Amino acid sequence: MPRILVTGGAGYIGSHTVHLLLRRGYDVVVVDNLCRGHAHNVPPERLRRLSLQDTDALTGLLRDPPCAAVIHFAAYIAVGESMEKPELYFANNVGGSLSLVSAMLAAGVDKLVFSSTAAVYGMPERVPVTEEAPFAPVSPYGESKVMVEKMLGWLDQCRGLRSVSLRYFNACGADPEAGLGEEHDPETHLVPLLLRAVRTGEPVTIFGDDYDTPDGTCIRDYIHVSDLAEAHAIALESLLAGAPSAAYNAGTGQGHSVLEVVRAVEEVTGRTVPRRIGPRRPGDAPVLVADPSRLRAALGWRPGYTDLRDIVATAWEFECRRAACRPVE
Ligand code: UFG
Repeated sequence: MPRILVTGGAGYIGSHTVHLLLRRGYDVVVVDNLCRGHAHNVPPERLRRLSLQDTDALTGLLRDPPCAAVIHFAAYIAVGESMEKPELYFANNVGGSLSLVSAMLAAGVDKLVFSSTAAVYGMPERVPVTEEAPFAPVSPYGESKVMVEKMLGWLDQCRGLRSVSLRYFNACGADPEAGLGEEHDPETHLVPLLLRAVRTGEPVTIFGDDYDTPDGTCIRDYIHVSDLAEAHAIALESLLAGAPSAAYNAGTGQGHSVLEVVRAVEEVTGRTVPRRIGPRRPGDAPVLVADPSRLRAALGWRPGYTDLRDIVATAWEFECRRAACRPVE
């Protein structure tokens, strides 16, 4: 089986993908500087603790033994942080990607799966949003992903480097059997915050209930992280089989409001979510739902999880296991 280099493989989506690739028999090497990822997410013999900025070391890793392709997760992902420190996001997300593709060119590796985001669309005028919607990011985080997607377009045209960009919607859920789940620090994502609120009794703030949506709260497209991992495996296979560069929305096409997620958490846990209504969070689009038909039609991807409660149940199982061994401070 081909050797695949995975950057950011110790992070949330990266580790689920690494696990899937290993199960499929790929020879995987993970590059992660562990500044936000966790060593316990990756088999130690697979992990290389390395900065993406170290182009020479990356080139060496890609060459010997030779890698067939790269999956590139390593990036900062916090929208709020990117508004405070945009320079960090351009240095790490754009600079890191530039270093990586430079190493790929030097080593003669010409296939890349790239972690992009729905944030490239900003506040889309039409939902469900298709890949034809214009780039209109409203944060340095979203802009950093747009810049890399554009860079990859030129690298295909000028250097023949083929890439698939997957524009993630709201990744959530876990693979508790594999010991994997969401462990951001600080946590900003809705599902883990609701589960933690249930467990600790500390109320979670709902960011606005006066949007122009049926219950007044924001609507998002929640996709199980294992389904997202599957999308990466299929995208990788397509590139290995000679498919051209493309960008795909990675979402389910189903929208759920914040209050619907709260209800799903209450059904799964059997407890009330302590909550309060707060002001809107700046930069939040009222509705962000994918049109995933291109990913379905071109690559045959289908989400395995279609019921939000099933997704939440995996995250709850992970949260309970994690809480048992590491109490929340
Ligand atoms: N929310 C709350 N309270 C919280 C946290 C979130 O009400 O404490 C709400 C948000 O306002 C939003 C929804 O829950 O309506 C989901 O918020 P998340 O922070 O979990 O996710 P986002 O939709 O903001 O962000 C996701 C990805 C980002 C990506 C963005 C694209 O996590 O990486 O989609 O818009 F940039």
